[in-house]
Amino acid sequence: MALSNTIATFTAYDKKQPIGMVRLIGDGGMSFYIKDFVVIPTYQAMGVGTLLIECLEKYIRDNIKHDWAVSLELISTKEALLFYKKKGFEERPCEWDGPGMFKMIRYNQEGGLLNDR
Ligand SMILES: CC(C)(COP(=O)(O)OP(=O)(O)OC[C@H]1O[C@@H](n2cnc3c(N)ncnc32)[C@H](O)[C@@H]1OP(=O)(O)O)[C@@H](O)C(=O)NCCC(=O)NCCS
Repeated sequence: MALSNTIATFTAYDKKQPIGMVRLIGDGGMSFYIKDFVVIPTYQAMGVGTLLIECLEKYIRDNIKHDWAVSLELISTKEALLFYKKKGFEERPCEWDGPGMFKMIRYNQEGGLLNDR
């Protein structure tokens, strides 16, 4: 279900072998979110991630309403922070925004909600 609800998936190949991927989810209008961004270790630091994020951003630019600006968000791994900064992402918190927030919600047969990490 998660994959079929994805807006777009971008995959990089070396010949026929997949070597990296990134998934775009969102409301298709104002807000987009990056999930599952990974380049396999032997292909990292060779520009594959840059290519993938450029394709993803081009897809958004080509598909948003004329003259609109939309948000592109994610939760970075600690390791990828510098990568995203180089790609123009701003860290939160900042002067006007608090930190990003995260919560897992699990199915509970008794009907209540259980929060878990
Ligand atoms: C983060 C990731 C997707 C980047 O892909 P990549 O193909 O290695 O990135 P690129 O080769 O296009 O690198 C672009 C720039 O970012 C830098 N960079 C990439 N990964 C970096 C890292 N982990 N730490 C610091 N800098 C990094 C590169 O040095 C390069 O800098 P330059 O333009 O000054 O030469 C990849 O390293 C990866 O899969 N990491 C493990 C999984 C992960 O953390 N994914 C992010 C989930 S939020």
